[in-house]
Amino acid sequence: MGRMIAISNRTASDPKARAGGLAVAVWEALKSSGGMWVGWSGKLVNETPRGVEVFRDDGVEFVLTDLTHNEYEQYYLQYANRVLWPIFHYRVDLASFDHKAFAGYAQVNQRIAQIVGDRAEPGDAVWVHDYHYLLMADCLRKVGWKGPIGFFLHIPFPAPEVFRAIPEHEWITRAMCAYDVIGFQSEQDRQNFIRHLIEDNGGEDLGDGRIRAFDRTVKVAAYPIGIDAEGFEAAGDTEEASIAAEKIGRFLGNRSLVIGVDRMDYSKGLPERFEAVGQLFDDHPELHGKVSVTQIAPPSRSKVEEYRELREQLDQLAGRINGDYGDLDWIPLRYLARSYTREELAGLFRVARVGLVTPLRDGMNLVCKEFVMAQTEEDPGVLILSEFAGAAEQLQSALIVNPYDRERVAETIYTALTMPVEERRERWQQLRQTVMEYDIGWWRNSYLHDLEAV
Ligand code: G6P
Repeated sequence: MGRMIAISNRTASDPKARAGGLAVAVWEALKSSGGMWVGWSGKLVNETPRGVEVFRDDGVEFVLTDLTHNEYEQYYLQYANRVLWPIFHYRVDLASFDHKAFAGYAQVNQRIAQIVGDRAEPGDAVWVHDYHYLLMADCLRKVGWKGPIGFFLHIPFPAPEVFRAIPEHEWITRAMCAYDVIGFQSEQDRQNFIRHLIEDNGGEDLGDGRIRAFDRTVKVAAYPIGIDAEGFEAAGDTEEASIAAEKIGRFLGNRSLVIGVDRMDYSKGLPERFEAVGQLFDDHPELHGKVSVTQIAPPSRSKVEEYRELREQLDQLAGRINGDYGDLDWIPLRYLARSYTREELAGLFRVARVGLVTPLRDGMNLVCKEFVMAQTEEDPGVLILSEFAGAAEQLQSALIVNPYDRERVAETIYTALTMPVEERRERWQQLRQTVMEYDIGWWRNSYLHDLEAV
């Protein structure tokens, strides 16, 4: 295969993307093929024409474009984040439909396709990422690109009954069938999509992972994304990690730490998690002053109304819980609306007795994998994981919970806090093995293997 060309809204040149596993994995693939990465520059301009900046970094050619304020509004804020994001996370109640937004979304997809079409050469392969660019393959075909195009969806794909709430669902599905390979995070997502193709669009299952629909044949498979497992483990041994661990140690004294780390998003189940923490302290007065829950939640997409409302809700809930249960020398629930580096997080995870990962829906969730890699054999912490995170299909040795069941989540935190070290070790060893085996390199290789076969 020739060069790899990646397309994603945020590229590795964007600090907001660099911390994630994706940036590392895709960068590797691009580097080894002398490839190109096309996406948004992160900048907004008032007028057309918007600039395209091109630069090279570590063997990868970045081709980034500015968005106009209007494109940003319709494509990113409205359609990507107020239609696709809520619907794909099963929140039909939070979606806000608008035909103008879809037009803006389609236009940005087409414009990026033109940028790629102008630069792609025979032999190249295109790899498109995430819900911002569902229409990209169709747009690329329109500008005459005939080579292979793969797509990977980082978020869940909903049940067809939910997907059909999107007014443009048929257009989107038809456009998606212009891809050669469509990758999902979980088996559940894959089945949802196939069911939608077959039941709602007359598709036919060819039985070898390929589906025939809209006069096209697409390979549809699950490739659960992993982390740079060894890299994260090593991050826990850095000085930055020790400093963070020491710092939180001063706050904790001899209390046990329960930790959560999530982008501040309504899909993460944070209000429900806070309520469960309240329930824990209600049910177990013997834990008062003995356990401290710390939730790290860097604010995200704060221009979108539903995210601002979530922030207010969390502020109130944390205040109420601390008001109800706190004491002169004890803060039951600490909530920090800021981000920490990967090394700092590795240090904090290592100190924690319990990791709370309880999204209401999540494509994969990489925090749970990072939590596992930060533990040590001597005294491993316990992972509590939502059954609605893609990772639950892989990490069965975690304590799996229904995040809506407040009482049960509270009881599970108690179980985790009191779990004997032998059981903690056994569970952790199984989890670690899975995270190590299905790491980011495995993900990249298995996806690219299928894309190359096209
Ligand atoms: C999720 C999405 C990514 C996105 C990230 C941050 O992980 O799958 O595509 O980049 O959230 O959201 P933002 O809107 O700030 O890019």
